[in-house]
Amino acid sequence: MCGIVGYVGPRPALEVVVEGLRRLEYRGYDSSGVAIIGPDGVLQVAKKAGRIENLDKEIAARTIAGSTGMGHTRWATHGAPTDRNAHPHLDAQDRVAVVHNGIIENFMVLRAELEASGVEFASETDSEVVAHLIAAELARNGGDFPDAVRAVCRRLDGAFTLVTLDTSCPGSIVAARRNSPLVVGVGKGETFLGSDVAAFIEFTRDAVELGQDQVVVITRDGYEITDFTGEPVNGKHFHIDWDLSAAEKGGYDYFMLKEIEEQPAAVADTLRGHLVGARIVLDEQRLDNQELRDVDKVFVVACGTAYHAGLIGKQAIEHWTRIPVEVEMASEFRYRDPVLNRQTLVVAISQSGETADTLEAVRHARQQGARVLAICNTNGAQIPRESDAVFYTHAGPEIGVAATKTFLAQIAAVELVGLALAQARGTKWGDEIAGEFEELAKIPAEIARTLDCVQDVRALARDIASSKAVLFLGRHVGFPVALEGALKLKELAYMHAEGFPAGELKHGPIALIEDGLPVVVVMPSPRGRPLLHQKMLSNIAEIAARGARTIVIAEEGDTAARIHAAHVVEVPAVPTLYSPLVTTVPLQVLAAEIAQARGYDVDKPRNLAKSVTVE
Ligand code: M6R
Repeated sequence: MCGIVGYVGPRPALEVVVEGLRRLEYRGYDSSGVAIIGPDGVLQVAKKAGRIENLDKEIAARTIAGSTGMGHTRWATHGAPTDRNAHPHLDAQDRVAVVHNGIIENFMVLRAELEASGVEFASETDSEVVAHLIAAELARNGGDFPDAVRAVCRRLDGAFTLVTLDTSCPGSIVAARRNSPLVVGVGKGETFLGSDVAAFIEFTRDAVELGQDQVVVITRDGYEITDFTGEPVNGKHFHIDWDLSAAEKGGYDYFMLKEIEEQPAAVADTLRGHLVGARIVLDEQRLDNQELRDVDKVFVVACGTAYHAGLIGKQAIEHWTRIPVEVEMASEFRYRDPVLNRQTLVVAISQSGETADTLEAVRHARQQGARVLAICNTNGAQIPRESDAVFYTHAGPEIGVAATKTFLAQIAAVELVGLALAQARGTKWGDEIAGEFEELAKIPAEIARTLDCVQDVRALARDIASSKAVLFLGRHVGFPVALEGALKLKELAYMHAEGFPAGELKHGPIALIEDGLPVVVVMPSPRGRPLLHQKMLSNIAEIAARGARTIVIAEEGDTAARIHAAHVVEVPAVPTLYSPLVTTVPLQVLAAEIAQARGYDVDKPRNLAKSVTVE
């Protein structure tokens, strides 16, 4: 949550920073702001509540020059999304400017201490304390800027990425991180900072990860990293394997629509290279085969859409390995007392690799002795760094706040993890594993075919856009798909939407059925799961009899599904465990189209941000 950009170099800093903020706006869009050190050494600050367009108008009316600067796009935690609470925040002398992502948990104590010494606050944020503390530290230590930032970091509790300016050091920026992300972009004669690489991808593809509890000083000539005590540390370099075009809309109205279309490639790229001979290989494996063989219990921990990928993965892992699997929301798992030991494998799924609850669940699991395997779309993010093994999804950058292509890539990845476990435990032969992999490798083409068939969904979406609510029903792997369809509709179209296992209907939810209520049914395959298919036909009949408008996602050639369905959306027939990779697609399109028909911003739904780095 919150996007941060920093720049030192020969270009006009304002342009670089504002462009970077536009690319990071998906991280939060309650307000935005910039601070640039002018040629006269004076801070120039512009900040505005609302989207970056509002900041653009503010900036257009002024001349802001300078080659050292930073910016922030906010997802509000402490303090309403107003101009006053927008970042950057300054000290009383306008010497120090600070932008912050995260939550400073002890800010009340620090604020009281500062107020007692006569400091007046200009905002209600937790972040402002940092500007005043750095100013006080500079006065105390004789003006050593990096040292002042390190000293302040040692006093802070919670999660923070801080980027700070001191007008006495106009050619440098000092930044720090704990539990929130920050990367350095290394250019020729210029250096960048960003919450993620999208902030500077236009200028450089060489980057450096900043580790936990580290401070970096950037200048035009490069960067120096230390820990919070001032001990030098080496940063981890990496090359960004995608370019600017991947972070742009490329002719689509919304990133989400582009990302839906990119799903065949996201799944194909995620599978590529993971079958070597007849063996499944992970990306980073700091676990030996004996440890994988010893696994007797799997927990999948994740949030939101990634949790739904876990529910699908459970079906595959249990089927192939016979190891019991529990899937838990990370926010619940981390605060209870799950039974974990060295034989437990915790699979943490996170697109961003920085979701606060999932990260804490990983830490909790490792403290209890469990092994952790991360599935992540972001190279070098905190969750994979802290895990024993990593499987990277290769979906490319996902800018739309609603997860689409990363969801499908996560499903493919967790299924490969299931095959890797089956291989280690010997519950599947090598040729069976290779056979499953080959089936999975055919799916990207089927996703592409599904995308060709969703025209009807667009018309249907416009038709049901004014409904009060939509229900989603599924069974087996179709149930998590129903949950995901409902989540997409809630977050994009702000409609009441619920996903249920169809077998639960008569235990309560059927009371919600009324005349004309759209109910989306994810149909099991008549060949793959004939019994469930039969049960689902009965469920459709029951709700149709009570007035529901049934929209059935069914396999091609499923003539029985048509009998009670008001609408049928056909998807290709694929093996049951892989069917969510196709049945999800029409539900994504449905949600995006309904949101558009209702006039909402598909990429930036209200109140949300892409990465949830605070609890
Ligand atoms: O980055 P993560 O995969 O850890 O994010 C988890 C959820 O916040 C995320 O999947 C969220 O539910 C989606 N953006 C919803 O579309």
